[in-house]
Parts: sequence; structure tokens; C-alpha cells
Amino acid sequence: MAEGVTAQNEPRIAKPPATLLVIFGASGDLTSRKLIPALCNLAEDQYLPENFIVIGSSRSKLSDDDFRAKVFEGVQKFSRRPISPAVWERFSKNLHYQPCNGEVLADFELLKQRMESLCASSEQRFNYVYYLAMAPQFFGPIASNLREVGLIEEYSSTGRRTSVVVEKPFGHDTQSARELNECLRKSLAEEQIYRIDHYLGKETVQNILVFRFANGIFEPLWNRKYIDHIQISVCEDIGIGNRAAYFDQNGIVRDIVQNHVLQMLSLLCIEPPISLSDAKSIRDEKAKVLRSIKRMTPVEVRENTVRAQYARGSVSGQPVVSYLEEKGVNPGSTTDTYVALKLEVDNWRWSGVPIYIRAGKRLAKRITEIKVFFNRAPDSLFKGRQVGELEHNVLSIQVQPKEGMSLRISSKQPGPRFKVRPVEMDFTYDNSFGVASPEAYERLLLDVMKGDPTLFTRNDEIEESWDLLAPIFEVWSSKDAPPVLSYEAGSWGPQAADDLLRKNGHSWSSL
Ligand SMILES: NC(=O)c1ccc[n+]([C@@H]2O[C@H](COP(=O)([O-])OP(=O)(O)OC[C@H]3O[C@@H](n4cnc5c(N)ncnc54)[C@H](OP(=O)(O)O)[C@@H]3O)[C@@H](O)[C@H]2O)c1
Repeated sequence: MAEGVTAQNEPRIAKPPATLLVIFGASGDLTSRKLIPALCNLAEDQYLPENFIVIGSSRSKLSDDDFRAKVFEGVQKFSRRPISPAVWERFSKNLHYQPCNGEVLADFELLKQRMESLCASSEQRFNYVYYLAMAPQFFGPIASNLREVGLIEEYSSTGRRTSVVVEKPFGHDTQSARELNECLRKSLAEEQIYRIDHYLGKETVQNILVFRFANGIFEPLWNRKYIDHIQISVCEDIGIGNRAAYFDQNGIVRDIVQNHVLQMLSLLCIEPPISLSDAKSIRDEKAKVLRSIKRMTPVEVRENTVRAQYARGSVSGQPVVSYLEEKGVNPGSTTDTYVALKLEVDNWRWSGVPIYIRAGKRLAKRITEIKVFFNRAPDSLFKGRQVGELEHNVLSIQVQPKEGMSLRISSKQPGPRFKVRPVEMDFTYDNSFGVASPEAYERLLLDVMKGDPTLFTRNDEIEESWDLLAPIFEVWSSKDAPPVLSYEAGSWGPQAADDLLRKNGHSWSSL
């Protein structure tokens, strides 16, 4: 899109076919915080299907009106922009609630009756989307109960598409991910399962492919000959909030690295797929990258990983407690709230290029950024001119909170002296396109309704990502595991993470 052209000038996209969306876990946080606000924003942009019904479902006994009032609070609090009263009125008429315990088959019979009666007022055949916004132990029982009462159909026999969206976490390790998948596959075909990783719905993450393959200048440089190293940082300033029960069992590697970081890494490193409109070819290439990441030996785990937990400190000028003092955390917990890793994609294109990852809670700032460091230019022409060491050209992909890109180049500082200084060429979505990016859930919900799985994680990607992390978990849980280090809340992590890069001749870029 040319600079200054806004989304409003674009031709309208085709709307998805008639859809009935059932949200399991509808009384929970995700529904109010993300899902309903995302649907309202799609309604505001007129992207929803002409025939669209939502049924919220969970064990709580709510009426349709109770449910509407509950999620309306979420829309007012969490929507990225105000939703106009007329849009809410139209949208909320199609919002319903049906109590259902995911483990009670009889409840699914009632759900089926409700779905059929709501669809009966239209002549359209509705596709069914089931969004499982709940803990993974319910995925298997819900899928099995839906199948049992005839709410999961094969497209080939009925012409009705049935899709099931599952939230993270998808497993805890290779074995549990495999078991969870087997459990789902008893009731569903792989193409009916949409494993959501909301990072893939972010504009900047999708733009990695466009940036790489729609610009002739970068792809020839996108390899070990020209790239020195890559840094991926996912930093949060918040602690664990009210997620102690979940987080303390999992830690930052399982919460952030296994899914969001490895998905970004795989897009950054893939070979050109056969087509960008063919989900299979993109997912095949991503799976190959994950398979190519070198599995570490126990010695390498000790050399290339750092894990730590936050101690007391201050964030944004406010004192905060240590991880072990957080409500609900086991007092002797060794769960990682920070990790730094050195990985290598061991294939022809990337062999020898270190990829450093850091992710953590209670760090100095909330920021997610990918930085690609190109090889330094030789400094022979600048010798004797007191220019100092020439800097790397660095391409930064800012994923959040600001969405955009910048390229650091060396430039002559104006004036009589020959001084070289790094400067940034910046692109931000706000400035160039004049519209704020949609929320990731908007794009992903729309894609499910259209039956496009490109931005969802396939099972082999999940298994590869757990598999490559397995040696790390093994060493970390062994008797002579390396210690869990400590870092001050509000800092950039432990000294050992700086040392990890220093011993390889690098340093973390400031964010
Ligand atoms: N919240 C977020 O921002 C977020 C972000 C990313 C991923 N996720 C993932 O999304 C999932 C849901 O998260 P959440 O934060 O919304 O959790 P939550 O607030 O605890 O909600 C859980 C939901 O599950 C329902 N539920 C529990 N047991 C049930 C049963 N036997 N049958 C039917 N419904 C049952 C609960 O309602 P009743 O008690 O009324 O049954 C509630 O609606 C989790 O897997 C989480 O990891 C959440």
C-alpha cells in the first residue's frame, strides 16, 4: 500500500460465509478481554458474516441478557477503539448464552437443540466454529462430546465446515503435546484444528514474510554470508498477575519461547514457500526451520542457556515484590521468569549464525523486538580518521508496543569533521498507513471463519518446538542442574545473560 493510503480506501474484503461461533469458557477472562472485543471491532469494520450467531457457553448459569451485560463491560474496557451504539445493538442481538459443562454429555444435547433453533430462522447453512477458551484438560472431553451428539461433521459429506480453535498452552512437553493431539484427533481431523498463537495475528509478524519476499534488496542478504547474528527479545514489565497457578507450573520458556518466540523465529528463517496463499507450503517451511534448530547436548545447555527469577526491585518507579513473594507461588519454586538462549538453525542458509533469545517478566520495559545484525563493513577506508569501529547495520522489527521497522545505517555527521554516526531509518504503521493495526484476535477469528489455517500452528510445528526444548528441560531438572539466578525487578535481567553474548563477541542491543 502506498504511503498515505488508508485501509478505508481499500476495496472491501469478501465476508466469511454464514457462521455459528460457540465460545466455550465464555464466562472467563479471555472471552471478555479479547474475543468479544475483537468480534465487535470486526463488526465495526463490517467484516463479519452477513449471517452470524455467537453462543457463549460455560457452567455458570447466565441468561442471554446477563451474558450480554457481562461482555459489554469487557468491550468498554478492552476494545482498542469505542464501539458505536448502533454496531453494538446489531451485534448483541446475535449474542446468546447456553450453559454447558464440558464434561457432561447431556448438556451438549441441549446445546445442539439451541444451535439448531437459532439457525432455523435463516435459510443459510451455517459453518460451525467452536472456540475452546479454557484449560487444555477440557479440549479432549469437549471435542468428544461434540462428536458424540453430532456437532462435528465432515465437510465432504455435509458441506458444512466445522472448526475447533484451541488456545495455548498446547502441552507441557513433547509427550503431553502428543497426548493432547491424539486426544483431539479421536474426534477431529487435523484440518479442523486451529491452534492459536496470537503473535501470528500481529501485523508486524505477518509482515516478516512480506518484507522478506516482496523486497528485492533484502532476500539476497538473508543468509549466513551477510548476517552476523540475530536477537529476539520478548520483555514484559508486568509480573505474573493472577496467573501464579499456571505460571509457576510452566515458566517463561513454556509460556513465551515454545510458542511466540519460535513462531517468529521460524518465519524469520524460512525458505521461500511455494506460494504465500498456500497454508501447507508455508507451514511445511516453518516446520523445516524448527526441525533444523540444533538440539543441544547437556554441555551445550550449560553453555548456551541462562535462567533466572526476579528479586524485589522497582518498575516504573513503584516497588515490586520478588517472584517468590507473589501470591500463589510455591515458596521454594525454581520456575524461570527470565531466560536467555543461544540457538542455531543448522541448515545451509543459517549455519554458524547465532540466534539469541531473551524473554522475561518484570524487566525494565514492555517490548518485543527482533533485531537482525548484518556483518560490519571493513573499516580500511576509515583508518586514521578516528571514526572508531564501524557499527553493524541493524534491521529492527518492532512487534510491540510500537509496531514498525527501522534500519540502522552509518552516516556522516554534518560538519567539517569526518565523523561517522549510526542513524535510524524508521517506518511505523501509524505514520505510514494512518490507521492503528487491528488486534491479532480480529485477524485470527476472521481467518478461522474463512477456513484459512495459514496463521495457525500445525501439529508438527508444535512437536518440533517441544522437541528442541527438551534437552534444556532435561538438564534444568537434573540433580546437578545449573542454578536459577536472580535479577532485580525492573532491570534487563541477570549479568550471566550479558556474559552469554560477550563470550561470543556480541552484546544485547538496547531496547
Ligand atoms: N486470558 C487471556 O488473556 C489469555 C491469553 C492467552 C491464552 N489464554 C488461554 O485461554 C484459556 C482460557 O483462559 P481464561 O483466562 O479465559 O481462563 P478463565 O478466566 O479461568 O476462564 C475459564 C473458563 O472455563 C470455564 N470452565 C471451567 N470449567 C469448565 C467446565 N467443566 N465446563 C465448561 N466450562 C468450564 C469457566 O467458566 P465456569 O466456571 O462458569 O464454568 C470459564 O469461563 C486458557 O487456556 C489460557 O491459558 C488466556
